[in-house]
Amino acid sequence: MKKVLVTYYSRSGNTEKMARMIADALVTKDVAVDLKKVEEVDIDTLPSYDGFIVGSPNYFGTMAWPVKKFIDESVKYFKKLDGKAAAAFTSEGMIGGGGDTVVLDILKAFLIHGCVVQGLTSAGHYGPVAVGAPDGRIAKEVGVLVEKFAALVERT
Ligand SMILES: Cc1cc2nc3c(=O)[nH]c(=O)nc-3n(C[C@H](O)[C@H](O)[C@H](O)COP(=O)(O)O)c2cc1C
Repeated sequence: MKKVLVTYYSRSGNTEKMARMIADALVTKDVAVDLKKVEEVDIDTLPSYDGFIVGSPNYFGTMAWPVKKFIDESVKYFKKLDGKAAAAFTSEGMIGGGGDTVVLDILKAFLIHGCVVQGLTSAGHYGPVAVGAPDGRIAKEVGVLVEKFAALVERT
């Protein structure tokens, strides 16, 4: 069974709710999931995963610093995560608040790790961007993301 790390930073709970939705949906696709706050991830476990789904609130159009810290520490395993699957998501305060750039900033880091990223045609193209707490729109986007991600990680 493939194993995926779903990790997130969240101060007021919106990104955490998205992470839980994603983790719950992945389990229904027979993927083993570790759901962890980003501050609690042991960086030495990264090579044991087949894929990573990383969430951050939108802070000034990019990820919150605990997520950046996690990513910077992941350099320890540069060239060791090659070919694994990656995806990202965010919650922001307002429509047009810069959420896509948050997702892209996270994805860029995983592309540099050599991870495989799939764009989405039937949801937010780079990954789910909630406005505040996740709503019905985001529930559908999570469904699309998880369906694609479960198939992708199976091919890793
Ligand atoms: C330091 C800081 C910077 C923020 N910057 C933005 C921003 O640039 N654009 C935006 O739409 N929302 C911004 N927000 C709002 C948060 O992204 C939004 O409230 C989000 O839902 C919080 O997620 P959380 O509940 O997981 O902490 C900012 C919030 C904080 C605290």
